[in-house]
Amino acid sequence: MDKIRNLINITDLTVEEINLLIETADDIEANPEKYRDVCAHKKLATLFFEPSTRTRLSFEAAMLELGGSVLGFSDAGSSSSTKGESVRDTIRIVGNYADIIAMRHPREGAPIAAAQKTVVPIINAGDGGHFHPTQTLTDLLTISRKKGRLDDLTVGLCGDLKFGRTVHSLVDAMLRYENVRFVLISPDELKMPEYVKDKMNAAGAKWTEVEGLEEAIPDLDILYMTRIQKERFDSAEEYERLKDSYVLDTEKLKPAKSDMIVLHPLPRVNEISVEVDDDPRACYFYQALCGKHIRMALILYLLNLIPKAGAGSASGGGSPETNAAVLRDDICCANPKCITSTEQELKHLFRLTDEKRGIYRCVYCDGEHVEEK
Ligand code: NCD
Repeated sequence: MDKIRNLINITDLTVEEINLLIETADDIEANPEKYRDVCAHKKLATLFFEPSTRTRLSFEAAMLELGGSVLGFSDAGSSSSTKGESVRDTIRIVGNYADIIAMRHPREGAPIAAAQKTVVPIINAGDGGHFHPTQTLTDLLTISRKKGRLDDLTVGLCGDLKFGRTVHSLVDAMLRYENVRFVLISPDELKMPEYVKDKMNAAGAKWTEVEGLEEAIPDLDILYMTRIQKERFDSAEEYERLKDSYVLDTEKLKPAKSDMIVLHPLPRVNEISVEVDDDPRACYFYQALCGKHIRMALILYLLNLIPKAGAGSASGGGSPETNAAVLRDDICCANPKCITSTEQELKHLFRLTDEKRGIYRCVYCDGEHVEEK
């Protein structure tokens, strides 16, 4: 039997696999009738412990368009998690009812915990402020369709880079393409986390950090706007102070390249004025359509309904034990948003990410531990 493939982090997929998904998504768009019944008698469970419109509905629409069925919940309040059930127990149960699972959870690393007990493929549809790999697949498909390439691009990431999980996964993905430069545009309080910057540095990527959108915009091929993530703030005052840090309007777009594209995972609050919607560079509603096509391709791939690409991922997704030799289990994760802080029976695990600086990171949430020398 084939090993179960999960998608927990975008790096669980090789570049060849991502290319295959993009090709399949394009074929799905061109020849929808070919795919109408390919998932007949297959079931997708959508387990959403956190709110969603696009991600959940596009997963469900994807499965329905492939001829399959869907079950699940859209609110943690209607699941047994309110009775104290662990994510790992929930996943064990749902594996009896569905062939594939898409889950979103407010705790960082929750899908890794889930992957330890699953008997069917698991897709991470967002874990707290950590990662969101299927949004990244959506973004890559949109960029590929609109720009015709995934390399040689200057990408501006603007807004809440600290809590915005979509930008963390997008950086992870785009680091694997040639000559991609990042401009990180955020207020000081919402800067890109160190674990993401460490990866950019390790890959030798070019990146700069600025506060002003105006100064950055003329150089960009892609402007990726994000919402200030209200639900992740500890202080309501701090959110109020930062919520309108950036508002893209037609005036600010004037110095931008004529073929720059504006992306946003949505929902937007105030960060893109509605007048921008009519600008041909605004691609965020189209991006949501791409989300359905790429999720159709992903479901087919993880269910082994299209041929395999490349060598497959090193990890299979979300199984830290495969690298047990380099893991440490004597460090406790201090991140209160990590899944290990609520699911007590989970073994804490850390991997060494920077030997020189003595930095270890939690395998679930990337929380940092610095070893005293
Ligand atoms: C994003 C998310 O949930 O992380 N939305 C999405 O999945 N389309 C971005 C956001 O909520 O701001």
